[in-house]
Amino acid sequence: MNKIVIANWKSQKLQNQIVPWFDAVGEIPSSIECIIMPAFPLLPVISQQLTAGMKLGAQNVSPFPMGAYTGEVAAAQLADMNVTHCLVGHSERRSHFAETDELVAAKCQLLQDSEIKPVVCVDEPYLDSQVAALQAIGITDIILAYEPLSAIGSGHSEGLSHVQRVVSVAKKLGDFPVIYGGSVSADTVGEYLLVCDGVLVATHSLDGADFSRLLAVAAAEKPSFSV
Ligand code: PGA
Repeated sequence: MNKIVIANWKSQKLQNQIVPWFDAVGEIPSSIECIIMPAFPLLPVISQQLTAGMKLGAQNVSPFPMGAYTGEVAAAQLADMNVTHCLVGHSERRSHFAETDELVAAKCQLLQDSEIKPVVCVDEPYLDSQVAALQAIGITDIILAYEPLSAIGSGHSEGLSHVQRVVSVAKKLGDFPVIYGGSVSADTVGEYLLVCDGVLVATHSLDGADFSRLLAVAAAEKPSFSV
């Protein structure tokens, strides 16, 4: 299976920054599945720029289908924009927008109905409850992203042995890829890819040259260390 590298741009970037970013990133290594997740207004412009090995993702989706829900973007509308993946349950959404396990499950159902793969973010306190809420409604085709709160945007990534422990617990809950997110950079991506199926990167995905270095390390076949 190709390693998954997701770029979560959060509420960053303007249209005129997109072409320079793609120019700096260059070709995606063939061993990587790279998913770019821009803010909603940038989806169409990114969709035009995608190169081989890149897919388009969204950062959020409405918990309702298309209809009279002012301000929301429905899963069917994301699919119509060629979106293939969507984040749900990111800790920033859980803390600022009251996203619960049940709401995440409802969103995943709508994503599944539109053939978009949910990338479900969890921290340890709700790893079990979140997976159980999904399994209760028959949703198993997900990517699970382990994102410890203290590591997100802090520059202090979680210790490798701890990530390895959580990944092995998560793997027992279901047959889905498990990725790690939290201050991943070109300096650390190689070690995380030894213990999980991919990485979710925000800060170090914003600069094209920085992200290109990260992709090159991620694609390297033989890391110089082992766990
Ligand atoms: P970070 O964020 O890479 O800036 O730590 C990760 C995330 O929020 O998904």
